Amino acid sequence: MVNKRDLSPASFIGVAKKGLISFGSGQPDLPPPDAVYQILPEYRDFKYGLIQGLTTLRVALAKQYPGSGKDDFVVTNGASEALDLSLRVLASLNTKLPKKVLLAQPYYYSYPHLIQFSGLEPVYLQTTRGRIDLDDFRDKAKQCCAVLINSPSNPTGRVESVETLKEIEKITAKLGIYVLSDEVYKELIYVRDNYLLSGPHVVTINSFSKTYAMCGFRIGYLWSRDKTFVERVIAMKTHSSMNTNILGQEMALEATKVPRQFIAGQLKIWEQRRDLLYQGLFELGLDVWKPEGAFYMLPKIDRPRDFVWDMYTKHKVITYLGDWFGAPGSVRFSYALDVEKIDEGMRRLREYLSGRK
Ligand SMILES: Cc1ncc(COP(=O)(O)O)c(C=O)c1O
Repeated sequence: MVNKRDLSPASFIGVAKKGLISFGSGQPDLPPPDAVYQILPEYRDFKYGLIQGLTTLRVALAKQYPGSGKDDFVVTNGASEALDLSLRVLASLNTKLPKKVLLAQPYYYSYPHLIQFSGLEPVYLQTTRGRIDLDDFRDKAKQCCAVLINSPSNPTGRVESVETLKEIEKITAKLGIYVLSDEVYKELIYVRDNYLLSGPHVVTINSFSKTYAMCGFRIGYLWSRDKTFVERVIAMKTHSSMNTNILGQEMALEATKVPRQFIAGQLKIWEQRRDLLYQGLFELGLDVWKPEGAFYMLPKIDRPRDFVWDMYTKHKVITYLGDWFGAPGSVRFSYALDVEKIDEGMRRLREYLSGRK
């Protein structure tokens, strides 16, 4: 058991105890499509696979991205590896551009670490109630070799407007800098369709973890029209993780064949949970934005470290500290759990807040 001062995501990831309600981890509780398991009884392959990824899977992905071909993709160990490789490739490029990456704050908690592991430096963007401030963006993008965009956002649930995303395309194209667009929540938008950022220096990152609830199988990918960038990613992967898990890739291929109703059905469930949690937090008087995508909320909470600690140790409820996401004074709630558990979690939260001094 960790102590209160050293709390980190690792204190909670994978923790499952009887009676525990977790608003912590961002892993869907809904099962993957049945089809992904159907290959298992017949599956016999065990050898190394192509570093770039299973050809049939890349062909299937290319059908989802207009104007793309199978060679523009690299299949990775989750979006996490796609981010890691992209950042390390960026750091290795022989350009005069500053070795800095621009990202919005609050951010997905791994971003600053991954940027620093690659030898680059994070530069943080102002946001106004979770939205990118374009003036700040214009100003700071000039000092960077790349920007990292995450819409819908973990942890805010914000979806940037199409106008903002188009402006980002224009500004970055003019500066000749890269855009890493982490779109792992692109199918989980409640307010409009996804807008796919595009351009010669855009690297799109995606995953089967969230849309198809396959996070433990670790299948993600990157897509870019920049052939040199893709080749460098493959070269780096050759000497680091080599191929991505071949069984997981076959399962992901099956997921690409599942009718779109699967995704639409999941989205309805997420939306119902969002409304339930939002209503509950709002009624408790917490300052919280209604998410437009993904499955997170980021209410403001007084003394958030005490809150996270007490909720866990006294009320058996996991929540994540806003500090981890660059959002001090807040706590992140994931609503990747069923409505009965959300109701029970809210009951415990009410009980705690009513007794809080
Ligand atoms: C914004 C964002 N990017 C990337 C990841 C990592 O996804 P994967 O499981 O595909 O590595 C997550 C997981 O929570 C995430 O929220």
